[in-house]
Amino acid sequence: FNVPKAKNEPVLSYAPGTTEREELKAQVKAFREVEVDIPMYIGGEEVRTGDKKSIHPPHDIKHCLGYYHQGDETHVYQAIDAALKAKPQWEALSWEHRASIFLKAADLLAGPYRQKINAATMLGQSKNAFQAEIDAACEFADFLRFNVQYMTEIYADQPESAPGIWDRVEYRPLEGFVFALTPFNFTSIAGNLPSAPALMGNTVVWKPSKTAVYSANIIMQLFKEAGLPDGVINLVYASGPVAAKVIFEHPEFTGIHFTGSTGVFQSMWKTIGENIHKYKTYPRIVGETGGKDYIFAHKSCDAQAVATAIVRGGFEYQGQKCSAASRIYVPESRWEEIKGYMAPQLAEIKTGTPEDFTNFVNAVIDEDSFDKLSKAIDDAKASKEAEVIFGGDYDKSVGYFIQPTIIQTTNPKYVTMEEELFGPVVTLYVYKDAELDATLDILDSTSMYALTGAIFSQDRYAAEMLTKRLTHTAGNFYINDKPTGAVVGQQPFGGSRGSGTNDKAGSAINLMRWVSPRTIKETF
Ligand code: SER
Repeated sequence: FNVPKAKNEPVLSYAPGTTEREELKAQVKAFREVEVDIPMYIGGEEVRTGDKKSIHPPHDIKHCLGYYHQGDETHVYQAIDAALKAKPQWEALSWEHRASIFLKAADLLAGPYRQKINAATMLGQSKNAFQAEIDAACEFADFLRFNVQYMTEIYADQPESAPGIWDRVEYRPLEGFVFALTPFNFTSIAGNLPSAPALMGNTVVWKPSKTAVYSANIIMQLFKEAGLPDGVINLVYASGPVAAKVIFEHPEFTGIHFTGSTGVFQSMWKTIGENIHKYKTYPRIVGETGGKDYIFAHKSCDAQAVATAIVRGGFEYQGQKCSAASRIYVPESRWEEIKGYMAPQLAEIKTGTPEDFTNFVNAVIDEDSFDKLSKAIDDAKASKEAEVIFGGDYDKSVGYFIQPTIIQTTNPKYVTMEEELFGPVVTLYVYKDAELDATLDILDSTSMYALTGAIFSQDRYAAEMLTKRLTHTAGNFYINDKPTGAVVGQQPFGGSRGSGTNDKAGSAINLMRWVSPRTIKETF
């Protein structure tokens, strides 16, 4: 299989004086000036229902970026029909032609679409320029390129044959249509969830998060320009319950590719279970869900490295990465030192609009999120078991701004050590050095999640002990680094327990879920 060797897209810096910074600023300005009218895309047609919903930057809620057209049950049926209609021709297309569409999309992303997708992510999802670059341009291009390589590795995996026999495996696409339900927090994930099954020869109904419509629209334009045939990926904006009802009752439903909340995933799994007798084939259920990701510092840690990991791992993109550090365990003997390194870094953080490139922290995604986070801060302020030691302010008069906040608790099972908040609020527990063992037990049992986790230790015996003790607490485990920023092709991403099915995004494991292998034995 001769495919271009996948390489990670180099990350641009956006430093003052760079061309990319000026281009991105100009693109942001251009998007702000024109109200966009965003359709659904069904069978290659742009569908406008007239039921228009407005789009506002989370950091500037009085500004209108444009409108999208909301669909209903009928449009979900139409999207399924379009996917099924496109399927025979798409699955018969040779893999090289499928691959080259997505490789071209990656090149467009790295080139003419780079500032469009970044600006859309900055405005629509309130992400700073650098975070948009590593997500929307680079991680997305990486998913597209590495998936092509993994696809060929899958196809190359063939069995042995006895004399006079030819055994082979045909990696057929699934029978039916795949449903992709995507989140707001990574534009790359929104692009990967429909494109990974499509690359393997499936056709898809895609419902993006209603808080990431602006970038979803650019993704559809990108796929179209790359030459994706009509009906292979069909984008609908319908409410979750409406889409779920139509899709999960359909006999041709063959799989879901999901990133989002644990609650939604569990409820969809139940519905799929209730309808299981209606399907032609057992559906693939692939989901990445919540997290309560940790940093655990051992007494042998490098205190400065721990401090940086807390600040960056906790507050990059407002703590809205599924991988964000949100519960921290530090030993009493090193706490003052760690705090000393954290203070100047925290004082330097600027919060505000991403349109000012000097702001590190921007707004949280919507009012529900703002309300949940501000309530958690108020509860901590009122609690006898917790204290807000940094930040604690919030304001929604202009946008949904929550100041990066650290809650220190005396109870390692305090509510925000356990429940996911999805925002720039980190909870920290100082454990007694003599209680290391008990603290590890608590870490392991406190939360239902197991997505990412980081340990810090300069002592190799301690590092090994922690790695073994915490085996099932994280699908992405970091030694002496923050728990965010997994790179496609380097750290395949996903977690277990309440965090998902761990079918690593950006890996052959994930792509295998979108094929149904047929073993063929031929006797000569
Ligand atoms: N790559 C992201 C992270 O690890 C998740 O998609 O933060």
